Amino acid sequence: MKSSSIHIGLLGCGTVGAALVHLLTEQRDSVKHRTGLDLSIEAIVVNDINKERSIPLPNEVLTTDASSVIGNPEINLIVEVMGGIEPARELILGALNSGQPVVTANKELLAQHGAELYAAAEKSGVDLLFEAAVAGGIPVVRPLRESLSGEPITRIRGIINGTTNFILTRMTQDGVSFDEALLEAQELGYAELDSTYDVEGYDAGAKIAILATLAFGADVTSEDVQHEGISGITVEDIKFADRLGHCIKLVAVAEQIINQEGKSEIGVRVYPALIPFDHPLAAVNGSFNAVFVEGDAVGELMFYGPGAGGRPTASAVFGDVIDASGNLQRSHGSLIGALDRPLICPPESFESSFYLNLKVEDQPGVLARVAEVFENHGVSIQSMEQEGMASEARLTFITHSVHEKDLLHTLESLKSLDVVSNVDSVLRVVGD
Ligand code: NAP
Ligand code: HSE
Repeated sequence: MKSSSIHIGLLGCGTVGAALVHLLTEQRDSVKHRTGLDLSIEAIVVNDINKERSIPLPNEVLTTDASSVIGNPEINLIVEVMGGIEPARELILGALNSGQPVVTANKELLAQHGAELYAAAEKSGVDLLFEAAVAGGIPVVRPLRESLSGEPITRIRGIINGTTNFILTRMTQDGVSFDEALLEAQELGYAELDSTYDVEGYDAGAKIAILATLAFGADVTSEDVQHEGISGITVEDIKFADRLGHCIKLVAVAEQIINQEGKSEIGVRVYPALIPFDHPLAAVNGSFNAVFVEGDAVGELMFYGPGAGGRPTASAVFGDVIDASGNLQRSHGSLIGALDRPLICPPESFESSFYLNLKVEDQPGVLARVAEVFENHGVSIQSMEQEGMASEARLTFITHSVHEKDLLHTLESLKSLDVVSNVDSVLRVVGD
């Protein structure tokens, strides 16, 4: 097979970048043998060239000067794994505009500026590939872009943040504290530089926006996502959920809903939810992710695997590098197509079953007064538990599926009851 040299400019050499250098070095001969592509990293752009690296790198390859690779005709392909919005956005646009294909793992950037970047790739006729931006090592972006491009997708639901899933798993299975579990996730290379991005649901929000864009062919951005994180989840919530036959996970959902005027709206949400032990998502533990795709024709598909960490993510980046390099030889790229702004569902239009955890006075008649509030708002209770404490009692409820606006009104009324001292937790419960 005739071999073609592909010179890569790598932007960033942290957790993912270093793992990519390692994987490429390991697999270079095998890829050359199978595909005829001789891949080499010619330059690596970092913040600090004197920093100690986890892999040996020749000094001459490291630089802080991104302009030496962007638009350089000797560099055939750019891989961006530095993260953040700027300068990543400007560098990727510069590369695409000068005809260099780009592979990126940057979900934050794609979820904010995807439409601009996809349009630039389309205009130049080069690839912008981003398998690693969603669900780490799991191939889900390419199936959505290619295999499922004709599928009328109705809903995507899953666990798409490895850090929060790792934290919740450690808290649930090993009784480890939130802070300790977060530290472990950081040490294992799962967390973002600013871990608030993971913990408060922004990372999962960016990923579900990208998946919604691909699934529904619309320009869905991170601003369209309603998100809640896991920083309010306590060990107590986890224990109560367990007693009620559930675990707690951070769930992301994108769905297409027909509103009362018959128009199609898109809902994109991230929230911590109770999941029944027998639901497939309950078995997704540690830094693993799972994505369910539901379509009218195909039915339900599940994608499962490692959702974070250097090597799994580098595997997804590497696949894109080989794909984009092959496309360079064939002179065609893979396109996203036209994206219009969608109608986004207002928050109150959703329905869900809920878990509520209230602290109340321990007196006769309290339960009846609380139950009356639920009844007045048409919220039906599926199960309830009472636990005595020193001078108070704790009531936990799981409701049947209700309109979120009815649940919000119920909460307001509960908070105004003199016998309710606090509403400690309100979480959604995942159903079918
Ligand atoms: P990281 O460990 O923080 O590495 C970032 C790298 O980029 C570092 O080498 C840093 O240089 C370099 N860098 C940052 N800003 C720069 C700038 N302005 N100019 C030049 N170099 C710059 O991050 P990571 O975990 O590898 O993540 C990289 C990207 O992959 C992010 O977009 C992240 O969201 C995404 N991602 C990560 C994972 C994961 O599991 N970690 C999974 C999927 C996607 P220095 O080394 O000199 O500081
Ligand atoms: N911080 C991200 C996570 C990395 O924990 O899922 C993978 O995108």
